[in-house]
Amino acid sequence: MMKKIIFFASCFCLLAFSAADDPYRFFTWYVTYGDIWPLGVKQQGILINGQFPGPQIQAVTNDNLIINVHNYLREPFLISWNGLLQRRNSWQDGVYGTNCPIPPKGNSTYILQVKDQIGSYFYFPSLALHKAAGGFGGIRILSRPRIPVPFDPPAGDFTLLVGDWYKANHYDLKRTLDNGYTLPFPDGLLINGRGWNGNTFTVDQGKTYRFRISNVGLTTCINIRFQGHAMKLVEVEGSHTVQNNYYALDICMGQSYSVLVTANQPPRDYYIATSTRFTAQVLTTTAILHYRNSLGRPIGAPPGGPTTQIDWSLNQARSIRWNLTASGPRPNPQGSYHYGLINTVRTIRLANSWGIINGKQRFAVNSASFSPPDTPMKLADYYKIGGVFSVGSIPDYPTFGGMCLQASVMAANFRDYVEIIFENYENAAQSWHIDGYSFWVVGMDGGQWSPESRKGYNLRDAVSRCTVQVYPRSWTAVYLPLDNVGMWNIRSEDWARQYLGQQFYLRVFSPANSWRDEYPIPKNALLCGRASGRKTRPL
Ligand SMILES: *[C@@H]1O[C@H](CO)[C@@H](O)[C@H](O)[C@H]1NC(C)=O
Ligand SMILES: *[C@@H]1O[C@H](CO)[C@@H](O)[C@H](O)[C@H]1NC(C)=O
Repeated sequence: MMKKIIFFASCFCLLAFSAADDPYRFFTWYVTYGDIWPLGVKQQGILINGQFPGPQIQAVTNDNLIINVHNYLREPFLISWNGLLQRRNSWQDGVYGTNCPIPPKGNSTYILQVKDQIGSYFYFPSLALHKAAGGFGGIRILSRPRIPVPFDPPAGDFTLLVGDWYKANHYDLKRTLDNGYTLPFPDGLLINGRGWNGNTFTVDQGKTYRFRISNVGLTTCINIRFQGHAMKLVEVEGSHTVQNNYYALDICMGQSYSVLVTANQPPRDYYIATSTRFTAQVLTTTAILHYRNSLGRPIGAPPGGPTTQIDWSLNQARSIRWNLTASGPRPNPQGSYHYGLINTVRTIRLANSWGIINGKQRFAVNSASFSPPDTPMKLADYYKIGGVFSVGSIPDYPTFGGMCLQASVMAANFRDYVEIIFENYENAAQSWHIDGYSFWVVGMDGGQWSPESRKGYNLRDAVSRCTVQVYPRSWTAVYLPLDNVGMWNIRSEDWARQYLGQQFYLRVFSPANSWRDEYPIPKNALLCGRASGRKTRPL
């Protein structure tokens, strides 16, 4: 008890300038190895407080989250937050470019505020291939009391962390990549850490339930179905959507969706089926939707996924729209809800590419293959340590030239409103994530993007989200308000590609150097590399 009070007191001054009247939620997490059997064979899992998947974070808009992470692995470790906006605060992002890894037996305290944010997200371990061993968990941010939500409170709220899975140890997967090879096809799909029929979700007939579904897998998009039941889509990464019904929903790597499912069928058990999407071989797994008054097991086979290729998915993606009349915190660039009426000042086209460097398989963005420097770039920037990275080391357009290894950082101005086109020239589906931001998905189509493509943009009711899919041989366009100063990771959510270089950092810069624009370095920041031994901030 005493310890907690002292800790609270010591961090209070750090938080005093943020909304100190908003509630604090304290978490202490112990990260360890432990045995898990997700596909029936024993594996070394990464557990948080003994759990796989890790504990769920439940918060309310504007809550402060103080998360003390103790690393009991044998190697450095970091946790990152898929979708938490962390305004003015890339110091807490938990990726290699912003934070020193937590050393073995060490600990580090994340100080986050879920400011003006609602929705469904997840956290995950960001270093090496740790994500292949667990260490991830759900995050839900509820609206504040009295803020209306555009649907009745559900009778239950379930989290489904779905993803592909390997029986191999994460060290072996990492070694495969380090040796220049690509990963094999995954061995299975998991829902909440379990395989075939490993989970049962119990419902009462006639009631409606919310399912928050995130793809926490490494390399494949998935599709999900509830046998005999519609999924009414209500939320996508913080945006309340137009409430359409779907019977099969694509969810690519790193994406999160909330659906409402009404138990309106004869009382029995039904399959919740999920399968890999855009893969030659299709993996499937199931869970059970169990009516409390069930008369028996599911009838028939689990419902199959879509067999058509990208047109079906493009149509579905375009049908996902923002509910303009629903309340809730929403992005608000330059004081306007009319994201489509604001002129963009810069167009950035990002193309994934692959190639061989030094005899090994690598991936890149606009031919720059990210290679982590000896010091996190955010620290090098803060302490003005030269030679760690150079801004402008990645071009705004694809060069289609030879790939090179570098600590890629792109410069950007605070408050610019930019258009980003993600271009995919490959046959595999891609998924891209931008830390610290959400962006409007204004367009998506097959083939190659051109300025003409802008005529088809949705400038009215596109959803704002943090992770977007790019279908095979297709493009996706987003509008991004650069309202968050910091060093922000833009990455492939395909974890092998991310690890082998398909990522970079966007340095969103304000010359003002004011706490209003960006928080100063936390006094508890871990220092490493060429920043070792520097001072953080005085108390
Ligand atoms: C590590 O944990 C201890 C208490 O468990 C806490 O007092 C200390 O501030 C933590 N260190 C960091 C860097 O967060
Ligand atoms: C949008 O939200 C409003 C307000 O809560 C709700 O009444 C309406 O049904 C929603 N519209 C659609 C199309 O989902």
